[in-house]
Order: sequence, then structure tokens, then C-alpha cells
Amino acid sequence: MYLEKLILNNFRNYEYQQIDFIKGINFFEGNNAQGKTNIIEAIYMCAFGKSYRTIKDLETVKFSTDFCRINLMYNKDNIKKEIELYIDKNNKKQIKKDGVKINRISNHVGEIPLVIFSPDSLNIVKGAPIKRRSFIDMICSQLSKSYLINLQEYNKCLKIKNSILKNENIDKEYIYVLHEKMSEYIYNIVKFRKNVIQNILKKAVLIHKDITNQKENLDLIYSSDFLDLDKENIKKILDSHLYIDILRKVSIKGIQKDDIIIKINDMEVQKYGSQGQNRTVMLVLKLANFEVLKELKEEEPILLLDDIMSELDENRINFLLKYIENYQSIITTTDSSFIKNIENIKISKVSNGRLEI
Ligand SMILES: Nc1ncnc2c1ncn2[C@@H]1O[C@H](COP(=O)(O)OP(=O)(O)O)[C@@H](O)[C@H]1O
Ligand SMILES: [Mg+2]
Repeated sequence: MYLEKLILNNFRNYEYQQIDFIKGINFFEGNNAQGKTNIIEAIYMCAFGKSYRTIKDLETVKFSTDFCRINLMYNKDNIKKEIELYIDKNNKKQIKKDGVKINRISNHVGEIPLVIFSPDSLNIVKGAPIKRRSFIDMICSQLSKSYLINLQEYNKCLKIKNSILKNENIDKEYIYVLHEKMSEYIYNIVKFRKNVIQNILKKAVLIHKDITNQKENLDLIYSSDFLDLDKENIKKILDSHLYIDILRKVSIKGIQKDDIIIKINDMEVQKYGSQGQNRTVMLVLKLANFEVLKELKEEEPILLLDDIMSELDENRINFLLKYIENYQSIITTTDSSFIKNIENIKISKVSNGRLEI
């Protein structure tokens, strides 16, 4: 699949802009605060129905206008398709695919498979566990509708449980009922996460060996309280920790505590990795993410690279560009001087919410 065209109407600092993509590398070059990341964000929103930069949809509507609209045209198996996202001041949000309203976002996520690299991606390695969970969840959600539904339902239950734990009088029976449901979701989510992490690892080991000239051996270890447990045993863990939950007024066990331990030659990168190793591992994980989505979805994901080149040295940039030259990518940068001897590229200049081609 590949993207053909993006039309922005009152989106962020764009009044009206049409953007045509080529199948290869699409560079958007410009100074800071001109609207480069806004292009990446618009594509992301069409794929996930929400932004990764804000939870307030209204922030994306251009100042002093009443609505915004994004149209994304793409080609899947030689069929032209279109996503339309509309947001207005009354907080109405609507997503349509080929003119038909999408009611559940879980039915839509995965339609446009994406891998996004941004400066925040560096936190996957050294940041809090939530960054690694989000990394994995983003892959799992694009691979399986039921994964995303399980995750959404689990989060709903967790929210209810945590709000009950804040009360003076706690209805334990109700929490046991919630645990019943949650153990089912946990079972499904852990099984799926485990499988995806194994797939990522298989790809990542090879890419990492390649980028480090066979010197380093990468390992990913899935850490969860519920690995290989059946639903009854998962429920037992939740039930038996309820008294601590009540003392702490928050759920202490759950998949919201899962993590991935990243090791290089048996050393924990989170704790001991150098800046350079951090950057290499981030790059490797994202490329492995791309490979896994490509293989399991049997189509090529779109690569979105937001301002990441400034974070990488020449070697890593060259490795990355070599890797992605056969796929479609959207790359933003403040400085395109590193672009040498690359074929199949289109460079557009972005200035104050406008494109100069
Ligand atoms: N809702 C909005 N309405 C108008 N302008 C906006 C809105 N949200 C952000 N902007 C503007 O968009 C610009 C930032 O765009 P961005 O794509 O993040 O820049 P960059 O080119 O550095 O990636 C800033 O000038 C900001 O003021
Ligand atoms: Mg930016």
C-alpha cells in the first residue's frame, strides 16, 4: 500500500494545502515551527483516529476557524481509497472511509499500517516502562482488532476499579466481578504481546548484528506477572492482591505493569547503555517493527520519520536511508544536507503552513 495525497483544511497552521506523495522518500524540509510535524500528525490521525501529540482534538483545528478536515488518499492493492477526518468546535469528530462513517476505531486501526520515528522514540529504550508498552501496543493494535478491543476493555475496567479503590466503602464483590473480566483480557493481551515481542526479537537480532558489524547481541525479555498463566491463575493473582490495592488505593497488579528488558551482550541497556547504544537500539527496534508489520500484515507499512535525522550520526543515517530506500517514507528535517546519492526522492519546502515545491 502507499499514500497518494493528503489534503489539509484548517488543520493546525495549514489553511488549505494539498500534498502529493511519491512512492519513495518524501522529504519535508523547513525551519522550526513551520508545519513539518503537522504533516506527520495528520497522517497519523487518519490511521489511528487520534493524535499522538495531544489528547485534545480541538487543538488541531486552526486558530479562529470552526472545523478542520483531513483527507488522505491511498492505494491498496491497486484500489484507490480515502480516509476523511473531521473535527469541529462542538467537539464533533467523524472519521469516514470511502464516505462511510467508521463507528469503532478498533475496526479501522491497521488499515494504514505505520511506523513512526520521532525524537520521543529515543525514550523507548531508556524511558519509563509505559514507553515500551506503547511501542508494543502500537504494533499489536495494528495487527489485531481484537487486541485493541481487549486493551480498551481492560483499561475501562481498570479505570472503574481504581475509582472504586478511592472510595471509603469498597464493594469487594464488584471488584471480584471486574477481576473476572480483567483476567480474560489479561490472558489475551499477554499471549499476544509475548508473540509479538518474540517476532520483534527475531528481526531485531539480525538488524542489530548488521548495524554493529556482528559485535553485539541484542535480547528482549518480556517481563509480566502473568506470563504463561491461565485465566484462573491470573484471577487468583488479582484477587490475592486486593488487600494491598485497598491499602494503596490503586491496582498494583496488571498489564499496566508489563515491561520489556533490553539487553546487549547480557548488559541491561536501560541501566548501562551508552547514548550511542540507546540510539542504535531505538533504530533497530523501529526497523524490526517495520519488518514484523510488513511480514504479518503482508503489506508494506508507511515510515514516518519526524525530525529524527538530527538525532543520528552519519553512519546511522546512512544505514537507515539504505534500509528504507525501497519503501514509502515521509521524512521531516530542518537540514537536508545529508541527502546525497539517494534515488527516488521528492523534496518539498515547508514554510509558515505552506508548501513550496
Ligand atoms: N491549532 C493551530 N492553529 C494554528 N497554528 C497552529 C495550531 N497548532 C499549532 N500551530 C502552529 O504550527 C506550528 C508548529 O508546527 P509543527 O509542524 O510542529 O512545526 P515544525 O515545522 O517545527 O515541525 C507553530 O507555528 C504553531 O504555532
Ligand atoms: Mg517538528
